[in-house]
Amino acid sequence: MEQTDHVDELLTCRLDSGRRAVEPCTIVIFGASGDLTARKLIPAFYHLYREKQLPASFRIIGFARREKSDDAWRAELRAALEQFSRTRPIDDAVWAEFATSVSYCQGDISDPAAYKKLAERLAAFNNDKLRRNLLFYLAISPSQFGAVVEYLFQTGLLRKEERADQRVVVEKPFGHDLASAQKLNTELTRFAHESQIFRIDHYLGKETVQNILMFRFSNSIFEQLWNRQSVDHVQITVSEKLGVGTRGGYYEEAGALRDMVQNHLLQVLSLVAMEPPVSLEAESIRDEKVKLLRSIRFLQPSQVDANVVRGQYTAGEIDGQPRPAYRHEPKVKPDSTVETYVAMRLLIDNWRWSNIPFYLRTGKNLPQSASEVRVQFRPTPHVLFAAQCGPRLDANAITLRLQPNEGISLRFNGKVPGTSMEIRPVRMHFSYDSEFGAYTPEAYERLLLEALVGDATLFIRRDEVETAWRIVDPIRAAWTGRPLSAKEFYPAGTWGPVAADELLAQRGHAWRNPQPIT
Ligand code: BG6
Repeated sequence: MEQTDHVDELLTCRLDSGRRAVEPCTIVIFGASGDLTARKLIPAFYHLYREKQLPASFRIIGFARREKSDDAWRAELRAALEQFSRTRPIDDAVWAEFATSVSYCQGDISDPAAYKKLAERLAAFNNDKLRRNLLFYLAISPSQFGAVVEYLFQTGLLRKEERADQRVVVEKPFGHDLASAQKLNTELTRFAHESQIFRIDHYLGKETVQNILMFRFSNSIFEQLWNRQSVDHVQITVSEKLGVGTRGGYYEEAGALRDMVQNHLLQVLSLVAMEPPVSLEAESIRDEKVKLLRSIRFLQPSQVDANVVRGQYTAGEIDGQPRPAYRHEPKVKPDSTVETYVAMRLLIDNWRWSNIPFYLRTGKNLPQSASEVRVQFRPTPHVLFAAQCGPRLDANAITLRLQPNEGISLRFNGKVPGTSMEIRPVRMHFSYDSEFGAYTPEAYERLLLEALVGDATLFIRRDEVETAWRIVDPIRAAWTGRPLSAKEFYPAGTWGPVAADELLAQRGHAWRNPQPIT
């Protein structure tokens, strides 16, 4: 696509001009010694600071059990930044300035005295906003959420009030089924109002995922086709080249269904299929997403086999490198039945999508890392070109490439130049890199900023998370205690079990594997 010209600049339309500025605030990270803090949170705050997106006055307090000095924690974070920053080299002067606002508070999260210490630390700040505007980031196990909010509430650090200045950010996994998610929600909302709780799904922080709504609702030409009259089926693929690696302990409890489908894939699906919201307000958008999730036809356990395929990788090879079988990964049971791959067909019972299959798939150790949505349009009636092309005449498709090589492509047929009559599929595509340059902020930067200003659009509401569990729970129930059959294994480096191809073949469809958009 051509570079943005002057006219396009004039037509750029800011949607967030009314956005509240980030007020001076303090961020308290529970689980400060953990992986997430070093890999994602601190690098994101550092970049926000470097790009002058944080307020002039802010503090970050790391809260964790181990004894360590402020300087020791800063040194750990600096080393991690070197490894995980999306930009290099790290600007030492910027880091040094940033680090003056970063400190460590040693404490056990089950010890009330630790919260008193935290409260004293906050009370010593000379700016009222630093004492009152508080973001509590719970980078800890969900089993500890309830206790932490209770202590924060009792110490007076967290007031339960609609849209209060204190907010609580929680990470996934948000429960392991509907009942546990409801329990967590009850625990959290005893001491915090729902509007103070920010449940993260990092897919919503991705530019390309946010763009799904812009693409659909700011372009009349696409939205008119976005329905059962024009669409044949939709494929959502999130494939990963990485295996489970060192995360076996976690993965044995999660599996692909809980790790990816319940959250990331259903989030993408809801944005692709939802109705236009009445406004861009967080609640309007979240209302529509929930409505869509509720319209998904819930499967009964007896219907799972006909609509969902699970798979587990065996040993194989990717890029010439051997990959061990899932059952041989560290901390995985040698007879584990946990799925590392899921493919499913969902139907949405509403006027727009009735009877249109939405195919979702995700897996580890697949040949490519790519996330994309492919909207496959109906084939043309085979009138004109039937004799020559028959079923080989490819149907039109729009592919939203979420990552990597972010872009959007439209596939249609054209005549091959020359004296013969030959038709071939061609593509028009838009690439983020060539249009906007290579800069794409990390999902966490966007999400942290939104949480700081208190905009909940990109976070998951209580009813949303619970509805998503209602969709996946019957599937889990059908699989529990059932050994894997030979058909459910796939060698690492292949596109999943054969049964996933059969699932689509039942309706005359076939998976389209992601291609790099160049
Ligand atoms: C996480 C899952 O939520 O998302 C991981 O726990 C997965 O298993 C990751 O690898 C994928 O995220 P991304 O941004 O790399 O697509």
